[in-house]
Amino acid sequence: MMSNWRTESLPFSLVPHGEDGPRVLRRSQSPTLLAADFRTPLDRTESIGLASEAGYDAIAGVFDASPWAKFWDRNEQPLLEKVISELGGIDTALDIGSGTGRYSRVLLKYARTVIGVDISEGMTRIAKSKVKAGNFIKSDIWSFLPAAQKFDVVVCARVLSHVPNAEKLVRTIVTDHLTDHGVIVISDLHPRHSYGMTSFEVGGFRINLDTFKHDIGKFQVMNAPINWTLKEFYYEDLNWKPSPHRFSTVRRETGLPIFYMLVGRRRPAW
Ligand SMILES: C[S@@+](CC[C@H](N)C(=O)[O-])C[C@H]1O[C@@H](n2cnc3c(N)ncnc32)[C@H](O)[C@@H]1O
Repeated sequence: MMSNWRTESLPFSLVPHGEDGPRVLRRSQSPTLLAADFRTPLDRTESIGLASEAGYDAIAGVFDASPWAKFWDRNEQPLLEKVISELGGIDTALDIGSGTGRYSRVLLKYARTVIGVDISEGMTRIAKSKVKAGNFIKSDIWSFLPAAQKFDVVVCARVLSHVPNAEKLVRTIVTDHLTDHGVIVISDLHPRHSYGMTSFEVGGFRINLDTFKHDIGKFQVMNAPINWTLKEFYYEDLNWKPSPHRFSTVRRETGLPIFYMLVGRRRPAW
C-alpha cells in the first residue's frame, strides 16, 4: 500500500495552506487528486481531518489490515457473535455502518436476511466483494432509516462514535425500527477510554476521522419498553491483550474501560 500510493488517486483533494503551512482538505473542490500532484515529499506527520464518508473512502483499502482490526477481531467479535447466536429466530437484521462486512457476515449465520448500510462507497465495495450473501447499501443511515422496515436485530458496531446525533439515532431505531422482541446491539470504544479520534495512516498521511464521544447513559433513556444491559471491558478482560507500543491508548495502568457493549431488548408494549 505504502509503496504504490503515488499511482493511485485519492477520493479527496488536498491543497497547500499558506507557503509552508499544513495541507488542508477541500472536499468540494475536486473529486479526485492524483497523489503524484503533491509537490513536496510526504511527511508522515501531516494529518488530514475528514468526515466519515470521505474518510472511510480514503482508508477503506487499509481498514482490514490495521492493528485495530485485529484488536476487534479478537476482542469484540467473539463477544458480539455470542450475543447474536443466543438470540435465536432472527428473520431480518440490520448492520449499521457495516464497513467491510465484519458483522454482516456474522449475522448471516443466524439471520435469514441481512442488510448492511454504510456511508462509504469504498467500504461498501469491499463488503460486497467479501460477503457475497450480504445485501449492502451505500447510504447515510439517516437517509436509509425513514424508508426501512422493522428488524429483529440491529447492530451498531463502532459506528455511533462517528455519528454526531447518536442518541437520536438510537431512539429512532428503538422506537421505529425494532420488531416487538427486537434487539439492538451497540459496541464502541468507551467514552472514558483515552482516545481523541479515529486515525489511520494511508500513503504517508495520517487521516483523522471525525469522532464523537457519547454519554452511554443517555442512550438508555427513552420511552419505549426496552431492557438494557451494559458491559464495559477493561484491559484485563481482553481475550487478546495487545502490546501497548502499537496501541498507545490501551494501557493496563489507566484502569479505564476500553470498549463497551450495550444490548437493548425490546419488550412488547402492554
Ligand atoms: C469503525 S467502522 C466499523 C465497521 C464495521 N461495523 C466493523 O465492525 O468492522 C465505522 C463504519 O461506519 C460507517 N459510517 C459512519 N457514519 C455513518 C453514517 N452516518 N451512516 C452509515 N454509515 C456510517 C463508516 O463509513 C465505517 O465504515
